[in-house]
Amino acid sequence: MIQRISSVEEMKAVAAGLRRDGKSIGLVPTMGYFHEGHTSLMRRSAADNDDTIVTLFVNPTQFSPCEDLEKYPRNLERDTELADEAGASFLFTPDNASMYPAGYKTYVTVEGWSSRLCGISRPIHFRGVTTVCAKLFNICAPDRAYFGMKDAQQLLIIKKMVRDLNMNLEIVAMPTIRESDGLAMSSRNVYLNPEQRKAATLISAGLTEAKKLVEAGEKRAEKALEAARAKLAESPLIKIDYLEAVSERTLEPTQDVVPGTLIAVAAYLGTTRLIDNLSF
Ligand code: PAJ
Repeated sequence: MIQRISSVEEMKAVAAGLRRDGKSIGLVPTMGYFHEGHTSLMRRSAADNDDTIVTLFVNPTQFSPCEDLEKYPRNLERDTELADEAGASFLFTPDNASMYPAGYKTYVTVEGWSSRLCGISRPIHFRGVTTVCAKLFNICAPDRAYFGMKDAQQLLIIKKMVRDLNMNLEIVAMPTIRESDGLAMSSRNVYLNPEQRKAATLISAGLTEAKKLVEAGEKRAEKALEAARAKLAESPLIKIDYLEAVSERTLEPTQDVVPGTLIAVAAYLGTTRLIDNLSF
C-alpha cells in the first residue's frame, strides 16, 4: 500500500534510508489530478526502480498571479489510489509553507531557455519549475526522474539544469499520452466546454499535417508551420500563442526540419492554454 508523506524532513529521512539500504529510487514530480500521462510515468518508474516516489505539489512559484493556481484541479484521494495502482511506494504531498518558508530566497534558472516559447507568455514559469525540481531532487535523492515529452520545453530545461549543475540523477523522457482523438492528455483539459474540447483536437491535427508534409519530403520549417497553422485556423475558438520550429539543442528557431527539430505549439481556447509538440 502506498504511503503518504507530507513532511519534508520525513521524506528526506525515508529517501536517505532507502539509499542506505541500497534501493534505487525513481521520482515522478507532478501537480496532481492524474491521468494516463502521469500514470505512464509512474508505471515506468516502478518497473525501473526498487521504489517510486510520486510528488504532488501545485507549485506556486511557477504560476503568475493572473494564472490558474487557485482553481488548479485537485483530487487527493483519487490521486492516491491511482499512484498506488501504478506501483508507487510513496506519495509526497508537501505544503507551500514547508517548501517555501517565510524568508525563502533561492531560485534556479536556466538562462535564456526559460524566456523562449512558453516563457514569453509565462515569464516566471520555468524558474519556478527548475527551482521546485531542484528541491525535489535534493529531498528525494532519486536515481532517475521521469518527465513527459508533452511538456517538451520543460523536459529540455530540466535536462539542461541537471547537466549544468552536475546533479546526480538520470532524466528519463516519456512519450506523450493522447486521448483517442489525438488531444494530448492534460489536467487542464477539464476546463474546456464541449465546443472547445472538440476544437482542441485541431492542435494535434495541425501537428499531424506538419508531420505529413515533412514525411513527404518538405524540409522548410515555414511550410510545415503553415500547414499546421491552416489546420488550427479551422476553428475560430483557437487562438495561437506560438507555433514554432526550434532546435532541441539550443531552443533557437530553425529554417529546416531535421532530426532534432521540435515543432511546438501553445494555443488558447477561451482562457485555457494548451500545449503540444512534435519531435523529429
Ligand atoms: P504536471 O503537469 O502535473 O505533469 C507531471 C508530469 O507528467 C510532467 O513530466 C509532464 O510532462 C507529464 N505529463 C503530463 N501530461 C502528459 C501526457 N499527456 N503524456 C505524457 N506525460 C505527461 O509538469 C508539471 O506537472 C510541473 O511543472 C512539475 C514538473 C511537477 C513541476 O512543478
